[in-house]
Amino acid sequence: MARNFPPDFLWGAAASAYQTEGATETDGRGPSVWDAYAKVPGNIVNGDTADVSCDHYHRYPEDIALMRGLGVKAFRLSTAWPRIFPEGKGQVNQLGVDFYDRLIDLMLHEGIEPWICLHHWDMPVPIEEAGGWRSRETAKIFGDYVAEVIRRFGDRVKRFAPINEPNVIPWVAYNLGRHAPGKQSYDACLQAIHNLNLAHGKTVTAVRAEAPDAEIGNIVSLGPVRPHYDDAAHEEARIFGDCMWRRVMVDPLWLGKYPEPIAEKIEPLIQPGDMEEISQKLDFFGLNHYNPVFVAPNPNATLGYSEVMPPSGMGPLTDVNWLVDPGAFLEQIRDTSDRYGKPVIYITENGASYPDMLRPDRTVVDPQRISYFNQYLGALLDAIDEGHDIRGYFAWSLMDNFEWGRGYSKRFGLVYVDYPTLQRIPKASYHWLKGVIAKNAL
Ligand code: BG6
Repeated sequence: MARNFPPDFLWGAAASAYQTEGATETDGRGPSVWDAYAKVPGNIVNGDTADVSCDHYHRYPEDIALMRGLGVKAFRLSTAWPRIFPEGKGQVNQLGVDFYDRLIDLMLHEGIEPWICLHHWDMPVPIEEAGGWRSRETAKIFGDYVAEVIRRFGDRVKRFAPINEPNVIPWVAYNLGRHAPGKQSYDACLQAIHNLNLAHGKTVTAVRAEAPDAEIGNIVSLGPVRPHYDDAAHEEARIFGDCMWRRVMVDPLWLGKYPEPIAEKIEPLIQPGDMEEISQKLDFFGLNHYNPVFVAPNPNATLGYSEVMPPSGMGPLTDVNWLVDPGAFLEQIRDTSDRYGKPVIYITENGASYPDMLRPDRTVVDPQRISYFNQYLGALLDAIDEGHDIRGYFAWSLMDNFEWGRGYSKRFGLVYVDYPTLQRIPKASYHWLKGVIAKNAL
């Protein structure tokens, strides 16, 4: 029997600037940390770069037509800080602003609401060189950047989020060194945590001042943290991992305090007024979810533990070795909803990578991705039935794109991108999801 979504449920898709736009040296855009990181041999699979990527910068009308074809009413994009401020601060690059003006206007014309995430990891190089997220000053400069964006687009854009998955930055960039800027340091982890939270607070202040009728929420990637083995050392890793992954970038925003195991260590970084600015009221909770996270002790990791593969035999894995576990999604929604006072929740990313093949007839058939979406949307309906206030769902991603350190070797799209020709080919999952959206039912 078909299960209905609520009548005003918001269907969307998501992508980010660095992963799709390409045109990294066009119209005055400055270099970002990811441009620099990608140039270092060995950092990105196959030595891929995002210089061209999907060329969304030039092909956005075609991409907006694909959004429309899918039937989504919202699209989550990010603005590239180095496109707006090539130096990170100072002089605005009008040509960069013009690009987002064109994009926003066409989306609105086509009946698609733009949701802007103000930072999806592409920090301008000069800001990184001055200390990046290790420096408190960056939060202030970030506040100036976001205020400018909100002033320019806040007349048409009504949903903002400060930073995509800030919890990934200390965890992956400073603990594991696997993301730009790729610097492993315990102190940098702690500084980045507090400065990112501060940057979040500055964004809330800017939205309330510049676009009082707009909504603002955080966007964070969460999933239950599980020990790889059942013993005391792994349980210890789980407790600390849970704090570092799920709590440090969320508790301060929603509960006004840092979680226990880390609070004492962050304390010296907190200045008067910080926690008040960080914990200003939000309009929604943007929850990205992919998988449960398995951890094990690791004396060589900056934080003393690391993320590991799920124990064998637990269930199917996606192409990036993430466990398919819709029960963990439901568990995460319950945790978020219960711990943070039943906020309005939007699922701002969810999706799966599979090794898609372009067939000779130029179609792509991806039954595993359909099965993944089917199971996860089922779990989402269970959560709605339980009374959690979930208002919308953004699939990751509209199209295949530059998957950070994995380059183009992994595909998450509903639309296949044939990189040599840049042709876009909707996959079977695109047609399947289109049907779900049209019926508003699973
Ligand atoms: C999310 C990010 O963590 O996961 C996306 O917000 C990313 O930007 C997606 O593309 C998939 O992760 P990965 O590590 O496979 O690129």
